[in-house]
Amino acid sequence: MALWGGRFSQGADSRFKQFNDSLRFDYRLAEQDIQGSMAWAKALVKVGVLTADEQGKLQQAMEVLLASVQQDPQQILSSDAEDIHSWVESALIAAVGDLGKKLHTGRSRNDQVATDLKLWCKAQGELLLGSITALQQGLVASARANQAAVLPGYTHLQRAQPVTFAHWALAYVEMLERDYSRLQDALKRLDTSPLGCGALAGTAYAIDREALALDMGFAGATRNSLDSVSDRDHVVELMHVASLSMTHLSRFAEDLIFYNTGEAGFVELSDAVTSGSSLMPQKKNPDALELIRGKTGRVVGAQMGMLMSLKALPLAYNKDMQEDKEGLFDALDTWHDCLDMAALVLIDLKVNGERTMAAAQGGYANATELADYLVAKGIPFREAHHIVGETVVFAISVGRPLEELSIGEFQRFSPVIEFDVYPNLELEATLAKRVAKGGVAREQVEAALTAAEAWLAKR
Ligand code: ARG
Repeated sequence: MALWGGRFSQGADSRFKQFNDSLRFDYRLAEQDIQGSMAWAKALVKVGVLTADEQGKLQQAMEVLLASVQQDPQQILSSDAEDIHSWVESALIAAVGDLGKKLHTGRSRNDQVATDLKLWCKAQGELLLGSITALQQGLVASARANQAAVLPGYTHLQRAQPVTFAHWALAYVEMLERDYSRLQDALKRLDTSPLGCGALAGTAYAIDREALALDMGFAGATRNSLDSVSDRDHVVELMHVASLSMTHLSRFAEDLIFYNTGEAGFVELSDAVTSGSSLMPQKKNPDALELIRGKTGRVVGAQMGMLMSLKALPLAYNKDMQEDKEGLFDALDTWHDCLDMAALVLIDLKVNGERTMAAAQGGYANATELADYLVAKGIPFREAHHIVGETVVFAISVGRPLEELSIGEFQRFSPVIEFDVYPNLELEATLAKRVAKGGVAREQVEAALTAAEAWLAKR
C-alpha cells in the first residue's frame, strides 16, 4: 500500500510507478532506515506520542526486522513498495498491527531519507578509510620488498633522472594520504542529523533533536530545516573525494601498465590479476589495471551528473533528489573495488631490478649530474647546460652513454672536465646527492618509508 493513498481516487499508472519507485536501489538503506526509526520511536516517547510500552514493542519488531534484512537484504526486492521507507513501515505494520502506523508521526520521508543517506555515508566512509589504508600498506610493503630497485624517473614520458621503486611507491602513499584526509574531512562535515526537520519546516512535536542526533551516532543536529532536507552537499563531496582518488588510482594503473609492457619489462604482474587473449596465446593482459583506469571515468561522470541534478533546484525537497542514490552508490562501490583491486595487484608484483637499472642507466639520465659537475668547476649553469647538451648529442652519435666517453672526448666540449667526472656520473652518486627533504637519496627514502610505516601502523 502506498503511503499517501488518501488524496487519490485513481491508482498510479504502472509505468509511472515503475519510473517513480526507488526501492530497487534504496533497499540498500534498509539498515539505516530501521536504525533511524528506532531512534525516532524513542524520541516520540519523550513527547508523549508513544508510551514506553508501545516503543518497546516497536523496538522489538525492528530488531527482528533488522536482523532479517542484515541476513538477506535481497528479500526486500520482491516487494512492490515505493521505497525503503514504505517497505520498512509496511513490514512493521505486518509485525505489530496498527501500532506500526503511529511511527511516522511528526516525521516526513524528506528528513527520513536525508538521515538514512547520511548514516549510510558514515558507515561507508569508515570502510573506505580502511581500504585506503590497506592500499597504502600494500604500497609501503612493496617499497620495502623492492628497496634496492632503481627506476628511471620520467617527465614527458622521457627518461629524466633515476629514482627508486620505493620512491615511486611512496609518491602514491602521499596521494592516498590526501584522499584519506579529504574523506575524513567530508565525513566530519556530514556528521549532522536532519531528523526532526519534518518535510521542510521542522516537526510540530517538541523533539529534542540534539539528543536524537546523538542517539543515532551523529555529532549533532543540523541547524536549518529547509537546508537539512534539501542538502546533498555530502553526496557531491564524497563523489568528489572518490573522483580525485580514482584519478590517483588511474595514474597508478597507467604507470604499472607501462612498466609491464614488453618494451619496458620493469615489472611483471601476477597471473592472479591478468587475463589472456582468446586469439593470441602469448598475451597476458593487465585487465585489473585497465579497469581501474577505465572506471575512473564513470566515477567522475557520476559526480558531474549529481551536480547537474542539483543545479538550480528550488528549496526545499524535490523528487530530483532521488537521483542522488544510484550515482553515489555506484561511485563509492567502484572506488572501493578499485582500492581493493590496486592492493591486490601489488601483492605479487615482481620488480625486475636488472631491467629497471639498465633503463635508468640509459637515456642519458645522468646528464644533469654532468651539468652540476661543470657548475662545481665554476661554469654558470646555463652555459653548463649548453655544453652538456652538445656532449649528449655527440654521445648519441657514437652510441655510448656519457660515462663511457673518454677524457679526451669530454674535453672537446669543456676543458675543465677531468678524471674526477666519472664518479659523478655513477647512478648511485646521482641518487646520493638528492638529500634535501623529499629527495630520492637512499637515506631520505628510508626515512620516508619508516615514517609512513609508523603512521599507518597506528590506524
Ligand atoms: N524515495 C525518495 C528519495 O529517495 C524518498 C523521499 C520522498 N519524499 C517525498 N516527499 N516524495 O528521495
